[in-house]
Parts: sequence; structure tokens; C-alpha cells
Amino acid sequence: MKKRIVLYKRLSDALLARLEAQVDVTWVDMTTPDGLARLRDALPGAQGLLGASLRLDGPLLDAAPDLKVISSVSVGIDNYDVPDLTRRGVMLTNTPDVLTETTADTGFALILATARRVVELAGWVRDGQWNKSLGPSHFGTDVHGKTLGIVGMGRIGEALARRGAAGFGMRVLYHSSRPKPDVDARYDAQYRDLDDLLAEADYVCLTVPLNASTEGLIGARELALMKPNAILVNIARGRVVDEAALVEALQARRIRGAGLDVFVQEPLSVDSPLLGLDNVVATPHIGSATHETREAMARCAVDNLLEALAGRRPKNWVNAW
Ligand code: DGY
Repeated sequence: MKKRIVLYKRLSDALLARLEAQVDVTWVDMTTPDGLARLRDALPGAQGLLGASLRLDGPLLDAAPDLKVISSVSVGIDNYDVPDLTRRGVMLTNTPDVLTETTADTGFALILATARRVVELAGWVRDGQWNKSLGPSHFGTDVHGKTLGIVGMGRIGEALARRGAAGFGMRVLYHSSRPKPDVDARYDAQYRDLDDLLAEADYVCLTVPLNASTEGLIGARELALMKPNAILVNIARGRVVDEAALVEALQARRIRGAGLDVFVQEPLSVDSPLLGLDNVVATPHIGSATHETREAMARCAVDNLLEALAGRRPKNWVNAW
């Protein structure tokens, strides 16, 4: 008899067919108003779950006593209580590597868009305001040759360092759990304490995972350490930054601007004070959102799930025992 899984993220036809050849699939569309209730109804008897962007905690897991594996279509695992999953004997897998370069591209898109005021000035053209030549009030600030400060030197941090050093001739500083001599050698990068990095960098780019030690990492004190002309870019998780303190710093122009792909509350409310600021570029968590990369992530998640249900050790097993 085939095992049953619950799928709560849409897959391409090819991947769905591959999955259905091996397991019974119960599809739950989480974009419908009763999505969560239908998911809960589908959980009893399910041995696998495949999806993303959903907090899967105690009450939901209690409804899935036969669960063997959660295959998350994400690299981030902040939606899961990993020790609790391990206690329950539920494997958790994620999709690292395949999204590294695309997410680093997003980081640089935000650096460039914020520094060169791309969104604001494109809106200005669209509004018919380009009826004379530009003056200094429309100028941005350079990216090339500046200092890039990367907070979190994992895979994505390193992909940013490579772009900064090789593509834009930037000096690369980074803060991480420890100095990484191989990174220093490859990108002529230098390790810094967080405070020193914040004080020296022109672009501070956050790539850390969200956990107890990174939640609220950048608050009012840290923002006050940044240069007045510096730009903060967040492609990590919204809760790494104290959003209220960031709004204050941006309103007071204590820093130059922010490029933000992630927010404390997603989707971001249209009432967010961030959206009233012309020195903010806000994107809807598009870090890995290209056709190619989302398909690669889904493929990786399907592989992880099928490996786990076959009783083998999946490649990206987060809570391996
Ligand atoms: C990830 O994979 O964690 C991205 O942030 C998308 O959620």
C-alpha cells in the first residue's frame, strides 16, 4: 500500500506526477480561507508533509500521529520547533544550496535599488515628472568601491561576498559565529565584531538564520552605530531587525535607507509605516523566487521526502539522528 502525504504547496505537473507515482497525495490549497482547517482534517494518517511558509507547531502535529517527515520547501527552518519534531521522531528536511545564488542576487538587487533609488525614480518617470534634467536631489550613492558588511557568513553570505568583491570592487567585512580564513583568502574579506562592522560598512546585509540568538539582533543601538550614509539590507528574516526602531531611524534619516525583502509580519500590511518612506525599497519575500530556483527547491524537497519515506537518509536532513 502506498504511503500518504499532504502537499500544501503547488508543484509543477512533472514533480507532482513523480510524487504521485510513489505516494498518495492529498492536496490542500492554503490560499483558500478554509485552508488551515482542511490541512488539519488531512493530517490523520499522513506520513509525510511537503510545503512551506506555515508555522507547524504542537496542535497541528498532534493531529498527525503517523507523521514521519516534514519536507520544507525552504532553507529557513524558523517555522518549526526542531527539538519538538525530534522528540516526536519526525524528520525535518530543507532545501539549501539550490537557492544560494538567487538569494544573493536578491540581496544585490536591493543594494542597487536602494542606493540608486531605482524604484522611487522609476515611479517619478511613470508619474510624468521627468520634464527637466536631473539635479542633485535625484542622485543616489555609489555601490562599487564601497564597503560591504555581511552579517552571517554562510552560503548566501559567501555568494554576496563574491558578488561584492569580484563584481563591484567592494571591500568585504563580515560578522559570523567565527572568523573564516578560507573566506578571508577568497574575497580578501575581514572578520569584524558586529559593532565594528556596523560602524564601518556602507552596506549592511543581513543573511543570518532566525533563532534565539539572532532575533532582534539589529535594534536601536545597532542602527545608531551605522554611518548616516549607510544602507541596511535584510534578506534574512524580519524578526532579526527591530522594525519599530528601523522605522524611527529611517524617518529621522539616521541611516540613508533600507532594502527589505522580509518583515516581522508577512504579507506586509499596506498600513506599515515602512511603506510611507521614500528611502525604503520593500519587496514581497522574493529571495528565492525565480522560476528556475523555485522548481529546483521543489525538486529537492520531493527528493528529500521520497528518500525519507523509503527509509533512507535524505541529503538535507536537518534534525538527523
Ligand atoms: C527560505 O527558503 O527560507 C526562503 O526565505 C523562502 O522562505
